[in-house]
Amino acid sequence: MIDDKKVLYSGMQATGNLTLGNYLGALKNWLTLNEEYECFWGVMDLHSLTVRQVPADFRKKARNLLTLYIAAGLDPVKNCIYFQSHVPAHAELSWLLSCFTYVGELNRMTQYKEKAAKHADNVNAGLFTYPVLMAADILLYQADFVPVGKDQKQHLEITRDIAERFNNIYGDVFTIPEPYIGKEEEGAKIMSLQDPEKKMSKSDENVNGSIFLMDDRDTIVRKFKRAVTDSDAEVRYGEDKPGVSNLLTIYGSCTNKSIQEAEKEFDGVGYGDFKMAVAEAVISVLGPLQEEFARLQKEKSFIDGIIKENDEKAAYFANKTLRKVKKKLGLTEKPR
Ligand code: TYM
Repeated sequence: MIDDKKVLYSGMQATGNLTLGNYLGALKNWLTLNEEYECFWGVMDLHSLTVRQVPADFRKKARNLLTLYIAAGLDPVKNCIYFQSHVPAHAELSWLLSCFTYVGELNRMTQYKEKAAKHADNVNAGLFTYPVLMAADILLYQADFVPVGKDQKQHLEITRDIAERFNNIYGDVFTIPEPYIGKEEEGAKIMSLQDPEKKMSKSDENVNGSIFLMDDRDTIVRKFKRAVTDSDAEVRYGEDKPGVSNLLTIYGSCTNKSIQEAEKEFDGVGYGDFKMAVAEAVISVLGPLQEEFARLQKEKSFIDGIIKENDEKAAYFANKTLRKVKKKLGLTEKPR
């Protein structure tokens, strides 16, 4: 609790270009949460280092991500938007928690297994201990709730296990975080347009599978025209129709309509027209976002000010927890 408000924590990796999946599955649903919760949103740049980055490029991407949070509508005064790497407590708690995490647990993480298979030439220890750093992120702020897409649920479960294990030994040090479940359509999993059995991902090699937040109008239309559907011609949501279902989810999410409403709207409509309508719905969301992003990118000192202020705010809360943890563990305090 901070000032009688429950705490909410989440963030995104600063790797690659954000996709429509990141936006509809996460960012869009974060916008109004600060009314009810004390919100922290990290730019998870330390996590991004598990994959090799080009330094100049990486620096730009991380700053763009922070700018994008604001362009999407997160108010940087009412929300704490900051860089993970600017608060050293994250890396420090991560080490401490790694001593309370079992190798067997980490071995069971599906994301680790997937990423290790994909980057077989660079299965680094950071990739393996990624969930421990994520646990540190969340626990440092004593978060009550963590809004994440379905793909991150397992990481939240291990965070809870680590926190409970620690609390069982040392008393109530950490708040045990719960997943934040929004309304039905929120947190939906947006799938690849080319392979609707797979999630839409920043790192997909097939760029036609993902809509990037900075894609221009023509690119968006082209990608939706090519989107995989199926051989019958019915716009209906169902497990047997993953491509069409994904398009309906995207449409509903962009227009704030339910799947049922969307199905009714496209009753009897052919796939060609349906795809164009989905593309237009996406353009009407991404167009204004891109304009605001371009405007903010030019406001260098405004963004710098936000970074400084929010880094300090984040560090204040994080250090409070870190001091408590160190004391409980019996690490010697610095003489004053
Ligand atoms: P990341 O950067 O992969 O994804 C950021 C958020 O976007 C969601 N997401 C999706 N939702 C729906 N459909 C998709 N296709 C899709 N792709 C991604 C993710 O669920 C996530 O909510 N490990 C985290 C970053 C992180 C974090 C944390 C999150 C680091 N520390 C602490 C919460 C709390 C990640 O990789 O997110």
